[in-house]
Amino acid sequence: MVVALLLSACNSIISSNKNKTSVFDESSSENADNLEHVKETLVTPPFLPKFNQVDTGAPKIVEVRLVVQEKLLQVDPDAKIWALTYNGSVPGPLIVVHQNDYVQVTIVNPKTNTLTHNIDFHAATGGLGGGSISVVSPGQQVTFRFKAIKPGVFVYHCAPGGIMVPLHVVSGMNGAIMVLPRKGLTDENGNPITFDKAYYVAEQDYYIPKDKDGNYKEYKTPGEGFFDMMGVLKTLTLSHIVFNGSVGSLTGKNALTANVGDKVLFVTSEANRDTRIHLIGGHADLLWQGGSFSNKPVTNYETWSVVGGSAVVMIYKFREPEHIYI
Ligand code: CU
Repeated sequence: MVVALLLSACNSIISSNKNKTSVFDESSSENADNLEHVKETLVTPPFLPKFNQVDTGAPKIVEVRLVVQEKLLQVDPDAKIWALTYNGSVPGPLIVVHQNDYVQVTIVNPKTNTLTHNIDFHAATGGLGGGSISVVSPGQQVTFRFKAIKPGVFVYHCAPGGIMVPLHVVSGMNGAIMVLPRKGLTDENGNPITFDKAYYVAEQDYYIPKDKDGNYKEYKTPGEGFFDMMGVLKTLTLSHIVFNGSVGSLTGKNALTANVGDKVLFVTSEANRDTRIHLIGGHADLLWQGGSFSNKPVTNYETWSVVGGSAVVMIYKFREPEHIYI
């Protein structure tokens, strides 16, 4: 009886603060094995997979598949890198789920690869973000899942241990996941807001070694260049900063488009170093600093920080026929 009274008192306290749920108020009592499974087909950035902005249904298990590709990537006309990638792109695909969904990840390391890889989700809570249970050597694959309890955007990256962590990250092996609130996004006044388009733009820093004549070096395998790359990395002197993997990936025929009147959501990330993003001729109408959807967005920012190892979301409304540069 005493226990029952205490529980009753406890419940009344929680309900009286219904509109001010603490970040510590989380229930984890459900059996995830009974939830509906849905497959999410991932696409190459800057595009996002199909998703609903609002999901009022029950949490689901969202299945995604990431295949590691080690591939020679032309960074600019004079430089190539053995890019380490999820699904062949730098950055890896943006995953989209809703808060309290489970993300069920299958990571495949084909036997034609040369290195061991894994994945560390900053969106996950505990378990080294999945890093310790997702290590796959060439020819192996593993499936695991985590509950996305925190709404926001978060980086994921390869973290196979020791010096391989920065080497894989600066070789392109990173991406992001967006965990939307189930009821969708809200503006600075707490009112629901929707967007017309969404793009994912990631900044990538490379540390490509040069030979004694000043030409960028090329290697037969990814591992062959690691010692040289480590030498460049230690100087913190990068050779390239690019958006979405290579020069020209978001310009010319690859330029992002929107119609006048569109509200466009941009996810921006940097897995390694601090950076600042600025729209030339525009502002972040709504900006979720630090990438957290738990907080109200700030408004009308000219430039915003992306702390190394994080992702940030902003929404910009195109009011004029114009070219916007980042
Ligand atoms: Cu890796």
